[in-house]
Amino acid sequence: PETSIGLIGLGTMGAALALNIAEKGFPIAVWNRTGDVTRRFHAAAGPLAERIVPTESLAELVAAIAPPRAIILMVPAGQAVDDQIAALAPLLSPEDLVIDAGNANFHDTNRRAASGLPMRFLGMGVSGGEEGARHGPAIMGGGARADWDRIAPVMEAIAARAEDGTPCATWMGEAGAGHFVKTVHNGIEYADMQMIAETYGLMRDGLGMASPAIGETFAAWNEGVLRSYLIEISAAVARAGDPATGAPMLDVILDTAGQKGTGRWTAIEAQHLATPVPVIEAAVMARNVSARIDERRAGEARFGSGPQRLAVELASLEAALIAGKILCYAQGFAMIEIAGRAFGWHLDLPAIARVWRAGCIIRSAMLNDMATALAEDSARNLVLAPFFAERLQSAVPALRRIVAQSVLHGHALPALATGLGWFDLMRTSRGTANMIQAQRDFFGAHGFDRLDGRDDHDGPWKMGGESSTVTAAR
Ligand code: 6PG
Repeated sequence: PETSIGLIGLGTMGAALALNIAEKGFPIAVWNRTGDVTRRFHAAAGPLAERIVPTESLAELVAAIAPPRAIILMVPAGQAVDDQIAALAPLLSPEDLVIDAGNANFHDTNRRAASGLPMRFLGMGVSGGEEGARHGPAIMGGGARADWDRIAPVMEAIAARAEDGTPCATWMGEAGAGHFVKTVHNGIEYADMQMIAETYGLMRDGLGMASPAIGETFAAWNEGVLRSYLIEISAAVARAGDPATGAPMLDVILDTAGQKGTGRWTAIEAQHLATPVPVIEAAVMARNVSARIDERRAGEARFGSGPQRLAVELASLEAALIAGKILCYAQGFAMIEIAGRAFGWHLDLPAIARVWRAGCIIRSAMLNDMATALAEDSARNLVLAPFFAERLQSAVPALRRIVAQSVLHGHALPALATGLGWFDLMRTSRGTANMIQAQRDFFGAHGFDRLDGRDDHDGPWKMGGESSTVTAAR
């Protein structure tokens, strides 16, 4: 068949995406570095095989696509993307379009977009795992608007659809904007997962609940405000049994979590932008701690037997998770707002909330309300939107009780606790940074602003030589 689109990299995500594209009626040429993979993929494609053109070389791939071509890269992020672009360069014409659909670091995408490539280039965030790629991911496009418009019909056809029927495929902005939004998505994904894991820990170690009962609890929560993909799969994994031993599956899985870097990139970028995302940072930290299992074992041997039993209501736990989730998303959206201005992308926050409503890993019922609240005023922190302010007001007391009980009984809730800490800072107009400012002025003559507006910006510790405070300090 005549194709105008191609795909390179038939790993799990690439293969699923190619099948999705073919299924939606777009003939597609595919190539994989190992020819065997391509042949097996084609042989297993069933009736879709007739819309798929398997090719044995890059030149054959390019020849199989009618210009102007669009070629999707689904190769590992980093050097492999640069190598693939370099290999394609002599084969493509300037109007051909290369689309990096991997989890690229958006700085790499910015660099590639600015590097004068001999072809058109888009960086596209794709979320939803294998299932999403196969049947409907959320797609966050970045690059020149005109290039996105060229492939938008394909992307909208393969994307998930929100409940109102809108396809979850949206152009986010120039250059690395799509990969940036995907990165923050993943930071929030890490945080959501961590907060769910913290409530799981409280049920398991604090309440002594068995895994299937925890699964029932998550399933019940999935009927309420928390309805979301991650709560749904948490119910499923907690209910599952190990075919080998018959034990609950969760009970035989080692508690060290890996990461490919996107959550960490979010935390690092937030630091560069000086925008607080403590819940995401806590989630990254917790994964890092999880990986140090020998140290944790030594810690338990030296300092005691870990968390103790406690009494908390499951309803309070649910409310605490609701509060934590709102706080985390408020931080994530605020970061996007700041980044959009810092990078000149003018990111459309309501559109981002809408694109996350279906297909992606963090899809949830709450994103509908977030889209509405952000559409009212996207520069206002989400916690101050009337709808969420009210919801927080009723849920924060439970979060406070849960955090307090957990601290008293030795349970680590890094994400939920730091969410609460941020909230308490956020609602304190007279904070403690006057002390920081005084210290900075003392040792570095940095000056400070005064509450009373007087035009005097230094403390007495420097006026007229040494003060008694200075002497005492020495
Ligand atoms: C998604 C996921 C997906 C993947 C990430 C995170 O949105 O579909 O985020 O892209 O799971 O690579 O993986 P790590 O947990 O390994 O960082």
